[in-house]
Amino acid sequence: MYDNWEELEQSIKNCTKCKLCQNRTNIVFGTGNKKATVMMIGEGPGADEDKEGIPFVGKAGQLMNKAFIGLGLKREEFYIANIVKCRPPSNRVPEQDEAQACLDYLRNQVILVKPKIIVLLGSTALKNILGKEYGITNARGTWIERKQIWYMPTWHPAALLRDENKKIEFWNDLKEVKNKINTLAEK
Ligand code: URA
Repeated sequence: MYDNWEELEQSIKNCTKCKLCQNRTNIVFGTGNKKATVMMIGEGPGADEDKEGIPFVGKAGQLMNKAFIGLGLKREEFYIANIVKCRPPSNRVPEQDEAQACLDYLRNQVILVKPKIIVLLGSTALKNILGKEYGITNARGTWIERKQIWYMPTWHPAALLRDENKKIEFWNDLKEVKNKINTLAEK
């Protein structure tokens, strides 16, 4: 574990713990407010993210940004990261060994940010963070508290591009998050 951001980022830049390092253009470390109340966790970089080194800059990310704006939330207020820091080929789901190799980096980010709320964007984030027994269809939209962190699983924004009906649920889940931010701030 690293107690500073620079060393953590450098160690990921040098990382060769799994095969995803072989084809990366850039690592996608994470972005946003390093003291955020809310952390968003996605799956892994796509082509645009690999090119730019920033999470959720492609189509899915742009859709997520629109939801933030609509709800009066600011992307810069959050810390945004992924389960894996390097792009899986053809945007496939990260394999178990790849996610396992990368999870300590994410744990380190969570320890440094100290979020009160973690939004799990899609099945890969949900299963790797809370456990394989969870399924996104059932778990989404429900709060799960663990070790004083509130988790909100919701759809991955890319799922909204494939299925319009999921947009309203995603929107409602983010509204829940907004309400929780306010409730926790009042305490
Ligand atoms: N999908 C993700 O899960 N993460 C990104 O950063 C981009 C797309």
